[in-house]
Amino acid sequence: MPLTNKQEVYTNEFTRSQKLMEDRFGIFIHWGLYSVAARHEWVQKLENISNDEYKKYFKHFDPDLYNPILWAKAASNAGMKFFCVTAKHHDGFCLWNTDTTDYKSTNTPWGKDVLTPMVEAFRSEGLRTGIYYSLIDWHHPDFVIDSVHPLSNHPERNRLNAKRDQMRYIKYMHQQVRELLTRYAPIDLLFFDYSYPKKLTASSHTEDVWVGKGRLDWDSDNLLRLVREIAPQAAVNDRLDIDDLQNGWDFRTPEQYEPRSWLEFKGQRVPWITCFTFSGSWGYHRDETTWKSVEQLIQSIINTVSKGGSVLLNVGPTGRGEFDERALDRLSGIGKWMKQHSRSIHGCTAAPNNLMPPQNCVYTYNPKINRLYVHIYSWPNIHLHLDGLSERIEYAQLLHDSSEIKIGLTDWYKAQISSQEKLAKSTVTLSLPIQRPNVSVPVIELFLK
Ligand code: GLC
Repeated sequence: MPLTNKQEVYTNEFTRSQKLMEDRFGIFIHWGLYSVAARHEWVQKLENISNDEYKKYFKHFDPDLYNPILWAKAASNAGMKFFCVTAKHHDGFCLWNTDTTDYKSTNTPWGKDVLTPMVEAFRSEGLRTGIYYSLIDWHHPDFVIDSVHPLSNHPERNRLNAKRDQMRYIKYMHQQVRELLTRYAPIDLLFFDYSYPKKLTASSHTEDVWVGKGRLDWDSDNLLRLVREIAPQAAVNDRLDIDDLQNGWDFRTPEQYEPRSWLEFKGQRVPWITCFTFSGSWGYHRDETTWKSVEQLIQSIINTVSKGGSVLLNVGPTGRGEFDERALDRLSGIGKWMKQHSRSIHGCTAAPNNLMPPQNCVYTYNPKINRLYVHIYSWPNIHLHLDGLSERIEYAQLLHDSSEIKIGLTDWYKAQISSQEKLAKSTVTLSLPIQRPNVSVPVIELFLK
């Protein structure tokens, strides 16, 4: 009898994100003018750069080595099944040939639309399409200067704000979203970024203009209505500040950390896609040295799937249009592992509730084929004791080479163990080879009865 996975409780409301939850693994791409500065995608704010000064990156955006087919292949070889690209980030620069502004890639020295060939390349590799769109726009003349704006410290910010009309910005922003959804249909994933509605408490930050921005500043209700109308199939993230609205979002988006368990909303388990970087910055950062290892990244992917989540792993391509060698190294390391182990990721989810993995192990489970995957982070000495699985395993093998793993103990070990300790009746023991397989994370595939 298959184990029933009772926690798959998505109601119909969440069907839009279902495919992304089965895919489990996608690529995030942060690319824009900040890639030329090469020191964080927030460089304009971090260094309080005015739009005039920031223009130098616009004048030098010339990605002569840009070949999105290579990007798409690198992602697909890493086992990624969907992509999400920054059509516009907070600096307001547009990667597509929009009718709404001149601040776009076609007016840079590169002179071409960069989004269209990217979408085509990823689609031709079979990845689902995602668009990241920044609600924030530091370039637009009507975007009211707030606490995260590069001009937040400007001595004349109030005078500057007097001329700004957020309503006009809203119109522009909705128009851009309409254009993206129409031109790049069908969109599978839409990632709005982000809302920060809370008032700041610092005394210098108490004037009205210093509040953050949220639902009303984006007119989120109508924005979402527009999305549902043009792209009813698109899964929308949760950063529009309309958490409580029925169908106001399709998945949660924790970023840069690992949730401890399956994310819940009002007591119900919900779809979630975590996003994280190889290092700290999302945009290309030349001098950053806090890069994660291949093994760390693979473990994060496994940990996420084991709690019912999916991963958007970010690459920040260089100003010349390439994935740099550190990114390629991580992607190919992940790909090497995924080639042999993707079965424990794609289509998998958390193990049924009552199953606790052994120490230093993480379970994922494929409910369709009723197989349980044991990811072993620290290789034990000979035995792996699995609680609650006695009489439930039909066959066991190492996933990377399908070599059989013996179920049960030899008589000698049976005697040895029982003279020292008591194993529960419901526990079954696997006998492992002494040598740890030479893969980033060894996995045992259990065919359950
Ligand atoms: C944050 C950052 C942004 C990044 C995003 C990814 O909201 O502002 O730079 O694009 O996270 O989730």
